[in-house]
Amino acid sequence: AVEPDLAGRHVVVSAGGTREPLDPVRFLGNRSSGKQGYALARTAAARGARVTLVAANTTGLPDPAGVDVVQAGTAGQLREAVLKAAADADAVVMAAAVADFRPAAYAAGKIKKRDGQEPEPLVLVRNPDILAEISADRARPGQVIVGFAAETDDVLANGRRKLERKGCDLLVVNEVGERKTFGSEQNEAVVLGADGSETPVPYGPKEALADTVWDLVAQRLA
Ligand code: PMT
Repeated sequence: AVEPDLAGRHVVVSAGGTREPLDPVRFLGNRSSGKQGYALARTAAARGARVTLVAANTTGLPDPAGVDVVQAGTAGQLREAVLKAAADADAVVMAAAVADFRPAAYAAGKIKKRDGQEPEPLVLVRNPDILAEISADRARPGQVIVGFAAETDDVLANGRRKLERKGCDLLVVNEVGERKTFGSEQNEAVVLGADGSETPVPYGPKEALADTVWDLVAQRLA
């Protein structure tokens, strides 16, 4: 049996990858499937929490039982949904892969290729950093905020810098690649704490990493 150590708590989890539209048929996106975020939502619910799952483009994954699922397609929509749900949350875990940039312009009609003409350069603008924003401006005193860092190299050093920049309490650093972590059933990570702690999580099911995250969150809420 699972300890209901999150009973009476409201937790918010974001999952999946945002898509930033270019025109009605095209977008800039990423390889996140949402599996890690869904594992976090399922394990939190099993430990007694009320869970709001903000899901970005996670088609194919069934809604976890007993979890409130809010759909958000773009980074802007994900930000609105996370800010709203975080208002009364004890913890927020940002497992979603949020686009740092979006196309500066949205074309209302499909962008056409014209014979003999070079394509227009793609101009991007920055999206707001949701994790940094909710960490700097906590909706509640004592709210625990967890970020994820998807890195391809120099994983730990980059993770430590990212933790400081974002201002969250915990940062789950996982290595990603074309065939690593994204979409798979397994993950491997080190959870960095703002207190200097390092909790390695060996290669295994995404649920195991999720449970370690909730252990660390529950310790900080206690
Ligand atoms: O979905 P899966 O296929 O299971 O794969 C899981 C995963 C690899 C997507 C997941 O484990 C993961 O690492 N998620 C975070 C991916 C990411 O966007 O990393 P990042 O290093 O770009 O961002 C760092 C943190 O800032 C993240 O918590 C992200 O949610 C947050 N962020 C980023 C940009 C932005 N504009 N706002 C944000 O809040």
